[in-house]
Amino acid sequence: MSLKIIATLAVASGFVLSAPAFAQKTETEKGIDRYRELIADGNPAELFEMEGEEIWKKKAGPKNASLEKCDLGLGAGVVKGAYVQLPRYFSDAGKVQDLEMRLAYCMQTLQGVEPKVADYNKDDHKKVIALVTYVAAQSKGMPVAVPQGHPEEKRMYEVGKRTFFYRAGPYDFSCATCHAADNTRIRLQGLPNLTQNKPAGEAFTSWPAYRVSNGQLWPMQQRLNDCYRQQRFPDLAFGSETSVALSVYMGVQGQGVKSLAPTIKR
Ligand code: HEC
Repeated sequence: MSLKIIATLAVASGFVLSAPAFAQKTETEKGIDRYRELIADGNPAELFEMEGEEIWKKKAGPKNASLEKCDLGLGAGVVKGAYVQLPRYFSDAGKVQDLEMRLAYCMQTLQGVEPKVADYNKDDHKKVIALVTYVAAQSKGMPVAVPQGHPEEKRMYEVGKRTFFYRAGPYDFSCATCHAADNTRIRLQGLPNLTQNKPAGEAFTSWPAYRVSNGQLWPMQQRLNDCYRQQRFPDLAFGSETSVALSVYMGVQGQGVKSLAPTIKR
C-alpha cells in the first residue's frame, strides 16, 4: 500500500529513485530534500493517522470496548496535547510510560487484549503504530512539556541520561559518541546533537515518522532500537525501562520545542 503510493508519487513527480542519481553525496542529499518537498503535502503517515483514529474509536477485544476512555495523561479520552507530555508517571500502572506503552496498557485494561507488541510492524504492534501516529498528530505544533514532577519521572530522566552516556560494546560507543556534537554526520545522515535543546526537541518529536527507505512507519522505540543496532548493542526490548528512560531524557532536553510528528524521513 505505502510502497505503491511512494511509487506513484515518484512517477507523478518525474523523480525516480535510482542508483546513478545517488552517486554523489551532495546530489543525493539534494535529491532527498527535493523528494521530501515534493511529498510533504502527502505524507503517507496520514493514512496511518486515519487508521489510528478508526482503531481508537472502534470497539474491540473480549471486553468489546473502544479506546476512547484511555487516559493518556490528561484525563480519560483526551488526545490533544497528550503526546508532548509523554512519557509520564501513571499511578494506575505504577510506572513511567511512553505513548507506545500507554496504548498497549489501555488495549490490555480496556479491551482485554494482550498486545503482542514486541514484534515491530507485525500484528498488534501495527495497531499501536497507527494509534501512536493518530495521537501524536493531535499535538502538532505544541511545545514539548515532558513532566518532571513525580520522583519516578526524575529517576527515569537520570536513568536515561546515564544510558545516553554509557559506553560499551565492541566499539565502546555510547549514544553520545554519535549524538553529542554539532554538525556531525555518518555518510549521508546528519546526526542531531541530542544534548542541545532544539535538535533534541526536534528529534524527539520527529517520531513516529514515515520512512521512505523501507515504506514503514516507525515509532520512537523502533527508532531507538535501530540506534542500538548502530551502537552494536543487543536489541533494545520493547517497553523496557531503558527505552522509556531514553525518551524521557531526550524529551526533557527538548522541552519547549514545537512538535513535528508525524514526519517523513529518508
Ligand atoms: C554509531 C552512531 C550512532 C549511535 C551510537 C547512536 N545513533 Fe542515533 N542515529 C544515528 C544515525 C546515523 C541516525 C540517522 C538515521 C537516519 O537518518 O536514518 C540516528 C538517528 C537518531 C534519532 C532520530 C533523529 C531524528 O532527527 O529523526 C534519534 C532520536 C537517535 N538517533 C537517538 C539515539 C540514541 C538515544 C542513541 C543511544 C541509545 C543513539 N541514537 C545512538 C547514529 C547513531
